[in-house]
Amino acid sequence: MNEIVTVNQISYHYTEEDARPALNDVSFSINKGEWIAIIGPNGSGKSTLAKAINGLIEPSGGEVKVGPYELNEENIWSIREMVGMVFQNPDNQFVGSTVQDDVAFGLENQGLPREEMVERVREALEKVNMLEFAEREPARLSGGQKQRVAIAGIVALRPDIMILDEATSMLDPKGREEVLRTVKEVKERENLSVISITHDIDEAASANRILVMREGKLIKEGTPEEIFSYGDQLIEMGLDLPFPEKLKSSLKNSGINVPSEYLTEEGMVEWLWTYDSKK
Ligand SMILES: Nc1ncnc2c1ncn2[C@@H]1O[C@H](COP(=O)(O)OP(=O)(O)OP(=O)(O)O)[C@@H](O)[C@H]1O
Ligand SMILES: [Mg+2]
Repeated sequence: MNEIVTVNQISYHYTEEDARPALNDVSFSINKGEWIAIIGPNGSGKSTLAKAINGLIEPSGGEVKVGPYELNEENIWSIREMVGMVFQNPDNQFVGSTVQDDVAFGLENQGLPREEMVERVREALEKVNMLEFAEREPARLSGGQKQRVAIAGIVALRPDIMILDEATSMLDPKGREEVLRTVKEVKERENLSVISITHDIDEAASANRILVMREGKLIKEGTPEEIFSYGDQLIEMGLDLPFPEKLKSSLKNSGINVPSEYLTEEGMVEWLWTYDSKK
């Protein structure tokens, strides 16, 4: 297997007094080019897990490996070069006074020749469809546009892995859709691996695989179809189900025989369209 991230039995306590570890014996791996969604209730350890992957915290036990590097003091900067992170609040991520300055900021530490820097900024903005906004003030953009600029800042650094920690949660539906589409396009073009921590079920449904966290533990792992089929258990955990699954569940409760496999919205429309009640 072409593993790019391997997490092996890691645990973490923020403080000595913590009765419950923020991470408790978590293991999983991610293949190159894969999109993983991490879901779970508030406080279940999702962000802590993301921090463990790029070395913002040091697990008390277990190992983390990113690309060829074991996570340790010596390799931490090589690992951070491989992993880019986008956070929740688009307004906390800006340092530049124009969009292009902002995207250039991360590159400035890399000591690239100026022409190459300009070229990389242009390329990155083009990839997230924000080139025409290059000279604008970041503060004047919509939430979705701000997050796309944040993504460009990461793309310019050419990482192997992009971690989105609730990066769409403060956006309106249009902004979410726009950011999600951007991530998909960038992922395909750059062959990135994506880890998206999310409460948004459409975002989770876009993943190849979903990990479910609860109380610091990884309690489930599967394809979106497999995970969504846990229906009521997910609702108990405070997670919303995709609309077609909710519809299926109420149809089932009214005694209608619904398909057991996961259906997208289009799939559900198709099924309803051809449904024969006399069967
Ligand atoms: N800086 C910190 N200091 C002490 N405890 C913390 C700190 N950050 C998180 N915790 C605790 O660690 C546990 C896991 O938190 P974490 O932020 O990883 O959860 P999460 O799944 O990302 O939650 P959310 O959905 O709210 O973002 C929680 O019990 C939380 O209170
Ligand atoms: Mg979090």
